[in-house]
Amino acid sequence: MNILVIGPGAIGSLWAIKLQQDGHQVAVFGRQTESHYQCQFGEHSYTFSNRQINDIKHADLILVTVKAWQVTSAFDSLARQIDPDTIMMLMHNGMGTVESIRTLLPTNPIVLATTTHGAFKPAPTQLFHTGQGETFIGAANEQGHRCQFLCDVLQHAFPEVHWHPQIEHALWRKLAVNCVINPLTAIHQCPNGNLAFPRYQAVISRLIAEVGAVMAAENIPVHLEELTTHIDCVITATSENKSSMHQDVYHRRKTEIDFITGYLLSRAKKHGIAVPENEALYHHIRTLEQQWESLI
Ligand SMILES: NC(=O)c1ccc[n+]([C@@H]2O[C@H](COP(=O)([O-])OP(=O)(O)OC[C@H]3O[C@@H](n4cnc5c(N)ncnc54)[C@H](OP(=O)(O)O)[C@@H]3O)[C@@H](O)[C@H]2O)c1
Repeated sequence: MNILVIGPGAIGSLWAIKLQQDGHQVAVFGRQTESHYQCQFGEHSYTFSNRQINDIKHADLILVTVKAWQVTSAFDSLARQIDPDTIMMLMHNGMGTVESIRTLLPTNPIVLATTTHGAFKPAPTQLFHTGQGETFIGAANEQGHRCQFLCDVLQHAFPEVHWHPQIEHALWRKLAVNCVINPLTAIHQCPNGNLAFPRYQAVISRLIAEVGAVMAAENIPVHLEELTTHIDCVITATSENKSSMHQDVYHRRKTEIDFITGYLLSRAKKHGIAVPENEALYHHIRTLEQQWESLI
């Protein structure tokens, strides 16, 4: 396939390399203006064409791996170049971006993806795969339902990949994990494993109860005990990890809070559900961001 990766950061470069290794014609669209993008991964260096209009026009699949808050601006100038049949796949944490893509590209098949692979780019041209994970993909519009074959394509390049018949269920489950782990580890600047300490248990229970109430109102199947066990397992399995929001706050970068807790708050408001614990974390992170913004 002709594949274009928009946003060749950590996750985007990992997929670009795995897909190129598997024999696909892969190009990228990054923010650097050079005509080629090179990335060292393990023993090898991989080269991709970068920012070429023909790569956009001829793409069978466009994989979008910018951060959630970067999605709309990444498309502003590109949407007109994208063929109406090109499959669009969004792969990022958080929810709430697909609505703008549906409006900008009303005829394109849209597929959403969520992955638990870990990737780290210590330098602009160096990549590490820091954690083996799995990826779920699923349709986000009518045309997207015809793209189930993509599961085999991606599975061959970088397993495990599963087709999810109701991808929003998987996205909400990931959102629940992120609503708990990301803001708490960012505010306390601690690794994920610290959230297993007794002092965090009461707040975590309240956060999960609030998220569960919103999920139920959204008709997403949820059992609080099972969700709690799942989140505990993620905390244990990733105990040494620093969450992306932890790292963003440490480096004073804009976080994905608007598309994680912020998305939860907007859905809670629509259903008239009070979510004070999540609201407090949201405002705490936004206040931190505003302090840095005011320094720029
Ligand atoms: N890294 C992980 O282990 C991991 C795991 C699971 C999920 N995720 C999720 O995956 C998403 C991507 O994360 P990441 O860690 O890969 O972030 P990242 O390294 O910051 O990658 C985002 C890339 O998009 C580029 N970009 C931003 N705006 C752009 C634009 N308008 N046009 C083209 N490129 C643009 C950025 O360029 P600049 O660097 O120049 O800004 C950067 O290279 C996030 O939602 C994250 O939460 C990450």
